[in-house]
Amino acid sequence: MPSAKRSKIAAFGSAFPEQVLTNLDLEKIVDTSDQWISERTGIRERRKLRDNEQNSDIAAAAALQALERAGVSPMEVDCILGCTTTPDRWMPSLASAVQAKIGANNGATAYDVLTACAGWMTGLQAADAYVRAGVYKNVLVIGSEALSRFLNWKDRTTCVLFGDGAGASLVTPANVGDPGEILELIVHSDGRYGDILDLPGCGSQMPPSLAVLENNLQYIRMNGQEVYKHAVRNMVAVCEEALARRKLTVEQIDWFVPHQANIRIIETVGKKLNFPTEKVAINVHKYGNTSAATIPTCFDEYVQTGKIKRGDLVLMTTFGGGLTWAGGIVRW
Ligand SMILES: CC(C)(COP(=O)(O)OP(=O)(O)OC[C@H]1O[C@@H](n2cnc3c(N)ncnc32)[C@H](O)[C@@H]1OP(=O)(O)O)[C@@H](O)C(=O)NCCC(=O)NCCS
Repeated sequence: MPSAKRSKIAAFGSAFPEQVLTNLDLEKIVDTSDQWISERTGIRERRKLRDNEQNSDIAAAAALQALERAGVSPMEVDCILGCTTTPDRWMPSLASAVQAKIGANNGATAYDVLTACAGWMTGLQAADAYVRAGVYKNVLVIGSEALSRFLNWKDRTTCVLFGDGAGASLVTPANVGDPGEILELIVHSDGRYGDILDLPGCGSQMPPSLAVLENNLQYIRMNGQEVYKHAVRNMVAVCEEALARRKLTVEQIDWFVPHQANIRIIETVGKKLNFPTEKVAINVHKYGNTSAATIPTCFDEYVQTGKIKRGDLVLMTTFGGGLTWAGGIVRW
């Protein structure tokens, strides 16, 4: 395959489970209130997979929508990156499960990327490099999560924050200036802070056991205040890094699409970067934190509703367990 000068996001696709869980619903499950959740996080409702639905169902639906919009058939896909912390099974990968569900049965490479909420941007960086190196032509990058399966529904400090959802993107070769061109992608990690946001149980360190279950170690744990501090600092820094690399200023950016974890983090990061609020894309109130799915689904929503237009410069940033964080710029 010939190498390409650039790569582009040819299309997005999104899928959410139908089941809605509002803050009022949560009031009936844990000791919380709509007011507390709204004020501290901006979240009003989130989606939750039903028992008979899997992560791969929404991931496949999002992938098929992206392929259809791009006019590419599943058999033309060369590589599938499943960006997730919550695959259907530890093995095979979410990407392999999606491959079977969408009928990409041409031997395409399929594997998962685990960098928590930074997953989709990490996958996008790999896809961009693959396409520009001529390794693959059509790369599906899917950020998809079934976080509701890994939440302790008795722990009000975590269960109110997250939701399920899937955002897919198709990355293809491009020339300089093509719509959707990926201009910059930076992904960072600092493993020293792995303990402030983790899912400790049922891995090889703590295999499933009664003790693991009794201590709720099969669920997501978080030191909210520590995460908040690192999130703000690192997202601001990586955005400045991406802008500097491209010699762009905030004034030249049309839209800011930050990770949708929490409205207060979004507002603080936006303010520190001097983004006017009308340039900041937000949908956290409807879906909560869907981890690797937040940026592709929010970007997609703003494209579908005509807010992000062709030619707009879009700055994206994210932050997650690892710790991981990323920044990137796309010319839509
Ligand atoms: C989680 C977060 C909203 C908590 O807000 P906070 O202002 O730090 O709140 P605290 O943890 O200090 O808790 C304040 C009080 O609210 C209580 N509280 C926590 N969750 C609650 C809930 N869902 N409902 C009601 N009260 C709650 C706490 O128990 C505490 O009570 P206390 O003072 O009696 O001990 C905030 O830390 C945050 O946004 N962190 C980042 C989280 C994140 O985005 N993670 C994902 C990154 S990818």
